[in-house]
Amino acid sequence: MFLKKTIRDIDLENKTVLLRTDYNVPLINDQIADDYRIKQSLETINYLLSKNCKIIIISHLGRPEGKVNDKFSLFPVAKSLGQILSKDVQFGLDCIGPKTDQLKANLKPREILLLENLRFHPEEENNDPEFGKALASYADVFVQDGFGVVHRAHASTSAVTKFLPSVAGLLLEKEVDTITNVMKNPDRPLCAVIGGAKIVDKIEIIERFIESADFLVLGGAMSNTFLSAQGHHIGESLYDKDELKLAKDLIQKAEEQKKKRNFIFLIPFDGVVSKDPKENIPTRIVDWSTYAIADIENYPKKPPKEDFKIKKDEKILDIGPFSGAFIAGGVQLAKTVVWNGTLGVTEIKGYHNQVGPYAHGTDLLIQAILGDFGNKPFSLVGGGDTVGYIRERGLSDGFNHLSTGGGASLELMSGHQLPGVEALLNKD
Ligand code: 3PG
Repeated sequence: MFLKKTIRDIDLENKTVLLRTDYNVPLINDQIADDYRIKQSLETINYLLSKNCKIIIISHLGRPEGKVNDKFSLFPVAKSLGQILSKDVQFGLDCIGPKTDQLKANLKPREILLLENLRFHPEEENNDPEFGKALASYADVFVQDGFGVVHRAHASTSAVTKFLPSVAGLLLEKEVDTITNVMKNPDRPLCAVIGGAKIVDKIEIIERFIESADFLVLGGAMSNTFLSAQGHHIGESLYDKDELKLAKDLIQKAEEQKKKRNFIFLIPFDGVVSKDPKENIPTRIVDWSTYAIADIENYPKKPPKEDFKIKKDEKILDIGPFSGAFIAGGVQLAKTVVWNGTLGVTEIKGYHNQVGPYAHGTDLLIQAILGDFGNKPFSLVGGGDTVGYIRERGLSDGFNHLSTGGGASLELMSGHQLPGVEALLNKD
């Protein structure tokens, strides 16, 4: 249960609300590439409009490092929000200062003002109290709804709460509730799939799932570090050289769990490899776990051992079909799937909207989770790239919960407290 007060717990009629959202959306040439985070903020905004509130929205976008930089302006977001709401959304060229104060003072009930990127001021990331106070001016209530940023103790998540009664928005409540429930009390069997690029970002969550999941799958470039730790030749594949010891320790922990209970730990045993992650470069499938399977042309003669090794100049860019089939099979037995991180390089697109050359493993997993092979488990997905890929493929509808948080969802799944949530008022 969510233990913080939300907008439903306080009187908001005709109040001026300072609303923190996470509008850190992907932009390509000033165009919003994915408006998921904007759309997910609508429930709270509509609720505030129904209470005749004056709404002042604050957010960050990207990492402009405390300097004004047009590349990171929230202006395209103001335009998009206005279009989605079919309503005028005013835009403030700064988030503090006399001109902003004027805009705030002139705001009328049911009007919306979106202020420019908080991170144009270094005080935001320094959690500066004076900056927090300036943000709070003219508002009666602070509403935190930027789930994606509540793992940061910044002025707009922490300092500001010292100056206003502070409660959660509906998106924040839904995110924290769903993720906490799945982590604490999942319907079993629980299958966890952890991919993505870097092992360091995922250590704690892998540790947590070694203890709690029934089936834990690793994929993405991160799993190359585990393969290297197991002694496999991984050619020029991306991996974390400094984390080999850590990967060995995690493998050891997983082995210990296997002795204690029914637990399956899968590091990919085949992969799609290529010399270069590009569209037209030839790919091959390498199965480094065996050389027992004959290839069709040579049947029944076994192929040479080299066919089961990654060459020095090759890179692993996706999981292979055997690993994919094994994972999809595991998903058939699961009641819950928690997934964070793609299993291969999904940025390279195929022709005519086809699946890209290194996205087949990720796509097979999506098919399995969505019930294409029979079973349809409850699904919780986190991580910007993973959710972004699902949305790009137009497949979001079949998932139970696509989190708007990247780092925040990982922190919460790892069992950490989130400063931006802790700072809010407790329920009575
Ligand atoms: C995110 O996209 O994960 C959030 O907006 C937080 O952004 P940050 O990692 O730059 O703090």
